[in-house]
Amino acid sequence: MPNDKWTAAQMPDLSDRTVVVTGANSGIGAAATREFARKGAHVVMACRSTDRGEEARAAIESEVPEASLSVRECDLGDRSSIRAFAEKFRDRHDALDVLCNNAGVMAIPYRETTDGIERQFGVNHLGHFALTGYLLHSLREADGQARVVTQSSGLHERGDIDVERVRRRAQRDGQPDDYDRWAAYGRSKLANVLFAYELDRRLDATGANVASTACHPGYAATNLQTRGAEMTGSTVKLWFQRAANRLLAQSADDGALPMLYAATAADVQGGEYIGPGGFMNMRGHPERQRSSDLSYDRELAAELWGASEELTGVTYDLERPATTS
Ligand SMILES: NC(=O)c1ccc[n+]([C@@H]2O[C@H](COP(=O)([O-])OP(=O)(O)OC[C@H]3O[C@@H](n4cnc5c(N)ncnc54)[C@H](OP(=O)(O)O)[C@@H]3O)[C@@H](O)[C@H]2O)c1
Repeated sequence: MPNDKWTAAQMPDLSDRTVVVTGANSGIGAAATREFARKGAHVVMACRSTDRGEEARAAIESEVPEASLSVRECDLGDRSSIRAFAEKFRDRHDALDVLCNNAGVMAIPYRETTDGIERQFGVNHLGHFALTGYLLHSLREADGQARVVTQSSGLHERGDIDVERVRRRAQRDGQPDDYDRWAAYGRSKLANVLFAYELDRRLDATGANVASTACHPGYAATNLQTRGAEMTGSTVKLWFQRAANRLLAQSADDGALPMLYAATAADVQGGEYIGPGGFMNMRGHPERQRSSDLSYDRELAAELWGASEELTGVTYDLERPATTS
């Protein structure tokens, strides 16, 4: 890495660029949205709740009055919402320069998406798989290299995937009693990395000028850690998570740096994994890192791709816009 103290101030000018950030109303997504906007990009804030999106927009505008932002609904647990978001995007914008697949949920109790899929896998991976497929045509229309950045987690290293079980939606077998919410989170975050690399290989094979990378934020104090605890109803877990956030985590602003770097730095190549280079890779300035051995398994990535197409109904045609079945 040429610069081990990279900050958001070093991002290039992004005037005339269009960026989509999922989960833009909170934590890392809100911090990244603000920095993209500060550099002149128009940012489409893809939010599950437009009310929370508008609140975040107002907060960003108070810091960056010249920010060019729009808030649009995109619930990644609901395929019709994702499709409607993408259709509106394509109606209003000729091209997309950067797609940040950032939104996520962590270690929540067993829930399902509207399509009946275990929610962490459904929102964190399948929602972004569908969204990227729908927006691929717009990415290919970008003037210059477009980027897709998919937010994973260091916890992807503890993830494993039995694609056959995923395909059969068998992750809900036995729920709720033997549902392991941390294993489900690790699986979804491994899927993020497998997807990012496989997408890059497929884009590369067709000569598309779109690079796909994965990143992780280390440990940043956001709503991510408290939401799961709140949903379990455990005040002890909630207290523990709040205390850990105060004592150990870096800020959401610092947690956004790997994603901002992956999205804009000139030396980033498709297929790379960017994370913070400080203490235990939980904090610090962004650098290139190696993800888990399993995340580089091409056969697994291709199998997951096929299952993701089946489960979402989104078929990637790398020459034309994605279709739905
Ligand atoms: N913070 C960390 O230490 C850490 C570590 C590793 C990885 N990450 C990853 O970083 C990403 C951002 O998380 P964060 O830390 O910024 O947490 P956060 O503050 O909780 O933000 C998560 C965002 O995802 C959105 N979201 C949740 N479910 C959604 C859905 N169904 N459809 C659309 N959006 C949805 C949330 O919207 P609502 O506000 O409406 O719920 C929120 O905007 C996640 O992918 C997470 O896995 C974070």
